[in-house]
Amino acid sequence: MNVSELRLRLSHAGQEHLLQFWEELEEAQQGELYAELQAMNFEELNVFFRKATEGFNQSSRQEKVDARMEPIPREVLGSATRDQDQLQAWESEGLLHISQNRVAVLLLAGGQGTRLGVTYPKGMYDVGLPSHKTLFQLQAERILKLQQLAEKCHGNRCTIPWYIMTSGRTMQSTEEFFTKHRHFGLQKENVVFFQQGMLPAMSFDGKIILEEKSKVSMAPDGNGGLYRALAAWDIVGDMERRGISSVHVYCVDNILVRVADPRFIGFCIQQGADCGAKVVEKTNPTEPVGVVCRVDGVYQVVEYSEISLATAQRRGPDGRLLFNAGNIANHFFTVPFLRDIVNVHEPQLQHHVAQKKVPSVDSQGQLVKPDRPNGIKMEKFVFDIFQFAQKFVVYEVLREDEFSPLKNADSQNGKDNPTTARHALMSLHHCWVLNAGGHFIDENGCRLPAIPRLKDASDDPIQCEVSPLISYAGEGLESLVAHREFHAPLIIDEHGVHELVTNGL
Ligand code: UTP
Repeated sequence: MNVSELRLRLSHAGQEHLLQFWEELEEAQQGELYAELQAMNFEELNVFFRKATEGFNQSSRQEKVDARMEPIPREVLGSATRDQDQLQAWESEGLLHISQNRVAVLLLAGGQGTRLGVTYPKGMYDVGLPSHKTLFQLQAERILKLQQLAEKCHGNRCTIPWYIMTSGRTMQSTEEFFTKHRHFGLQKENVVFFQQGMLPAMSFDGKIILEEKSKVSMAPDGNGGLYRALAAWDIVGDMERRGISSVHVYCVDNILVRVADPRFIGFCIQQGADCGAKVVEKTNPTEPVGVVCRVDGVYQVVEYSEISLATAQRRGPDGRLLFNAGNIANHFFTVPFLRDIVNVHEPQLQHHVAQKKVPSVDSQGQLVKPDRPNGIKMEKFVFDIFQFAQKFVVYEVLREDEFSPLKNADSQNGKDNPTTARHALMSLHHCWVLNAGGHFIDENGCRLPAIPRLKDASDDPIQCEVSPLISYAGEGLESLVAHREFHAPLIIDEHGVHELVTNGL
């Protein structure tokens, strides 16, 4: 260990405090801290900090973006509800590309899941479905089913490679989980793990924060860390070698996600788009969701905090909110577009500033758990690259069909938690069974109304779970359920159609 050289490097970068406790550390701790600091590029970190805080201060000074925002023009918008006559064509186009091995999916799973508060990666979470499948398993099985559907439709055996971005916090346990579950039936070589970068938390004056005397406080660099990671792991190269032309990027925590959705992919391809965003309609002006729109003629996501209430409340002639394209971090990219991002544009992307309460050691070496933000984390966002698209399109879907994110623990918040995720999936599957001609009956044999009477928010919906191995999006259930009556809980999986006997237990 050349500590004096490290000390010099730190002092040039104004970060010499990182060795403040060096003499007190045991030899092993010194080794760990030395290795951690040696791997850091302090000059680069200082530049990231300067640019991120400049951008942050500038946007706080700027007036709101309201005056410069324009809604999405109808000609770049495809809608699962308003363009029903097109859905079949988009779906076949998407399935054709899948059958030709030209579509991959890319999962963003490097987050820390602090709000959910579990110590393991979010994808390993079991929200308490009758099957107890985890989010990873549901997604893997949707991929398997879609491969089958594409083969059935176009006669080719095909593969949808699954790229999984993890971080220093999630890599090892994610890989171990997949190995333990034999990649949920997927071929190991078609599940490709890679790791996003981590950045240190910084104080407001640009000093790297120590979380312990021998450890820097590190966090993943945001889901937009994707683009740097794609380069570092040569993932775009891997896609090119496999002949992939389109990629569906999505977040780990949406229990309803239609992985590699052929309609979305087919729509984007038919439009000749290089970049697309799937959105859900924002119906409540104060809902805290970013909206996809144009600002100064360029597509981007505007966060809810960046606009005034009056703008959020504006409505178009059809009565809908004018800025209603709620971003659900669900994107389409062509591989040439990603190649361009990685080779040309990534370095231009600036980090955003998130002010956080960062546990740290103070100058006396005492551990401090702050009760107000004492530092920043620097993050890039996956949608930061919309601005570089040659042809950007938006695809609007129904929230109840496709979006229910798992963000919070049950105890914290009535929204986006394991209960809401479980209910969303079971309500959707209940609808699938009804639409396929099945019925549910109560303990007296009376049919339960298709539209349940208004329920208490705490009531469970009818328990019904359809395995993704049987149906990807509600298709193919008629032969199993039409004209039949079921007691809930109902499970439809590869072993058949079963009513679980609960015996009140
Ligand atoms: P969120 O921003 O909701 O973060 O991530 P999170 O880590 O899941 O939860 P909190 O905020 O700590 O409670 C949205 C998606 O982006 C991924 C997450 O894994 C999730 O799929 N993500 C987030 C990354 O892949 N990397 C990151 O650095 C941050």
